[in-house]
Amino acid sequence: MKKKALFISAVLAGGAVLGTAAVAQEQLPTHLKELKELGMHPGDAYVDEGREMFHKPGPNGKSCATCHGQDGVKLEGAYTKMPRYYKDIGKVADVDLRILACMTKYMGYDKKDKKFMKKFKKWSGPYRVPLASFVASLSNGMEINVQLDDPQEKEMYKLGEKLWFQRVGARDFSCGICHTVLAGKRIRLQGLPDPVKQKVYAHWPAYRFGSDRMWTMEDRTRSCYKAYFLYVKQWNQKKDWVKKPPPFSKWVIALELYMKKAANGATVEVPGLLR
Ligand code: HEC
Ligand code: HEC
Repeated sequence: MKKKALFISAVLAGGAVLGTAAVAQEQLPTHLKELKELGMHPGDAYVDEGREMFHKPGPNGKSCATCHGQDGVKLEGAYTKMPRYYKDIGKVADVDLRILACMTKYMGYDKKDKKFMKKFKKWSGPYRVPLASFVASLSNGMEINVQLDDPQEKEMYKLGEKLWFQRVGARDFSCGICHTVLAGKRIRLQGLPDPVKQKVYAHWPAYRFGSDRMWTMEDRTRSCYKAYFLYVKQWNQKKDWVKKPPPFSKWVIALELYMKKAANGATVEVPGLLR
């Protein structure tokens, strides 16, 4: 307990946390706001790429459109309810995992094909991020409405809530310390958003200008683990390591479900644009 309190006060005293009013969207620099107002959103290129991919036949000749309709008409609104439980795969899936499941189960792509998986996981690859962006965009203007009807969804949500507040790693951090307790303050000049109260899920997937690419919520969640929990192995003390959870793993999806449920009622507006 003492260690935790000390660390927080060290951060505060060191001046790393300053100010109170900043949140991510308000931080958007003027040139980005202008770009957005001009209708020139760099994230739109991903949505377009995803739409193209959606109509492209896979190894077995089927495309996403074969099952989900021209321009994805049958997927309109689907993103407002995700992550959710899917009977055909027996899992709670977020958009990233759902797309992977459809490609491997229904289109002839092979999960054991290392080349395919490498491309699939990649930020700049042709599949995951563009397709997720396109699928999410089909819910634009609709309200997020995550229901925990299935027992597996309830369990996943509970895990997400637990992980949100669970303190781990050499810094003894939790998502909640930065995003609930310290929300509104600044860390390294970045405002700490409160993804729960601010219902930020409504603008994910988002284009992050600083890294020049689109991120899905999987990417964001895994990156916060990597960036802030002392994931590097230099400490050489096993108990202090926090590994970045693997892609499509239950830990990532549980946290997503926790944040998405909190965003119920917010209107989907993707792709988001962040600094
Ligand atoms: C052969 C048919 C088939 C193909 C091809 C296919 N899917 Fe699916 N997809 C399904 C089935 C079945 C489900 C599960 C539906 C359910 O349980 O409601 C599903 C579910 C989904 C969902 C969730 C829908 C919801 O209502 O929550 C998304 C998103 C999705 N697919 C995207 C894609 C994308 C993107 C592609 C192409 C990369 C694709 N699918 C290719 C059959 C297919
Ligand atoms: C040490 C502080 C810290 C911790 C711990 C942390 N984050 Fe973050 N997080 C940040 C900062 C700073 C940003 C804003 C980054 C930016 O502006 O580019 C951020 C951004 C986010 C966002 C995007 C918010 C938006 O405006 O759209 C989400 C979602 C998020 N974090 C989730 C998590 C989750 C889930 C965890 C736990 C696994 C976590 N964070 C742990 C500091 C933290």
